[in-house]
Amino acid sequence: MDIKDKKILVTGGHGFLGKPLLKRLWLEEPLDIIAPRSSEYDLTKENDVKKLLEKNKPDIVIHAAGRVGGIEYNRKNPATAYYENVMMGTLMVHYSHIYKVEKFVGIGSVCAYPKIVPIPTKEECLWDGYPEETNGPYGVAKKMMGVQIEAYRKQYKFDGVYLLQVNLYGPNDHFNDKDSHVIGAMIYKFYNANKNNDKKVVLWGDGSPTREFLYVDDATRAIVLATKNLETSEPINIGSGEEISIKQLAEIISKEIGYEGEIVWDRTKPNGQPRRLFDSTKAEKLMGFKAQTKFKDGIKKTIEWYNKKCDENE
Ligand SMILES: NC(=O)c1ccc[n+]([C@@H]2O[C@H](COP(=O)([O-])OP(=O)(O)OC[C@H]3O[C@@H](n4cnc5c(N)ncnc54)[C@H](OP(=O)(O)O)[C@@H]3O)[C@@H](O)[C@H]2O)c1
Repeated sequence: MDIKDKKILVTGGHGFLGKPLLKRLWLEEPLDIIAPRSSEYDLTKENDVKKLLEKNKPDIVIHAAGRVGGIEYNRKNPATAYYENVMMGTLMVHYSHIYKVEKFVGIGSVCAYPKIVPIPTKEECLWDGYPEETNGPYGVAKKMMGVQIEAYRKQYKFDGVYLLQVNLYGPNDHFNDKDSHVIGAMIYKFYNANKNNDKKVVLWGDGSPTREFLYVDDATRAIVLATKNLETSEPINIGSGEEISIKQLAEIISKEIGYEGEIVWDRTKPNGQPRRLFDSTKAEKLMGFKAQTKFKDGIKKTIEWYNKKCDENE
């Protein structure tokens, strides 16, 4: 599909993923991009979703809004994570169908996968078990959108696609120790320890789990490629192909920040899913996507961005 001269609606367009996605989409010379805030249209509310679609009549919808957080957020807010994500997904797909959207791109998450999966994980494993408990309600809510997209394609010939993205990182991520994902939380902790001359940083779990991280610019490239080239509603994995343990991650980030104190692992806190690494060969075959940013380069850029932002705020 040629997206030049199309009217594109991006939900979540002011979030961590949404911001660079808007930038990349403008390069494709669309007719217009609409990116409303949640204060204008609350996508968990049917009337708001209906109004948004009715008023703007977009050709393309990229649904990148979500109620998102790390382990701690999902553990404390499982009901919110379930309800808001399932409502947004359900309403956005349904009203995109009603208002005859030509292409719908749904953004799913690695958290939809069962806790224990073969590594590297292929899309066929998606239904082999319940997700890791702390992320379960969030992961299942995001998985429902994939089911709905497939059903609407079968019954209504709705052209929807569904991407499962691994953990993202990069500039504009959330950096704190309350609702950040692991990279944002670690950068925040090591940066502050360095600044305050603390001799000890405490991290969750035992450091053994592995994760796959995708630089946000690779994620936005994948979304644009899927919008243009993907013609199936089958779930498609979007990963970087690099598996890194949390312990290695802590070493890389602390070194990059220049923190030289002790790293203490709090084993009373959950580890989360034991291993994560996608088989992303389908994405390469069906939509021409392969990640380009090596982790060591992406993390360097992210920390440089964070240092600069902190300097500016001081
Ligand atoms: N970050 C990751 O590692 C990761 C990994 C895999 C998949 N994903 C998926 O990628 C998408 C974007 O995540 P992100 O990390 O960019 O999250 P984010 O920074 O928290 O941004 C989420 C966006 O969703 C919007 N939103 C939340 N609730 C809304 C509501 N009720 N109505 C309308 N808009 C609402 C927010 O809009 P306002 O700013 O206007 O409030 C915000 O712009 C999500 O679907 C997430 O599941 C993220």
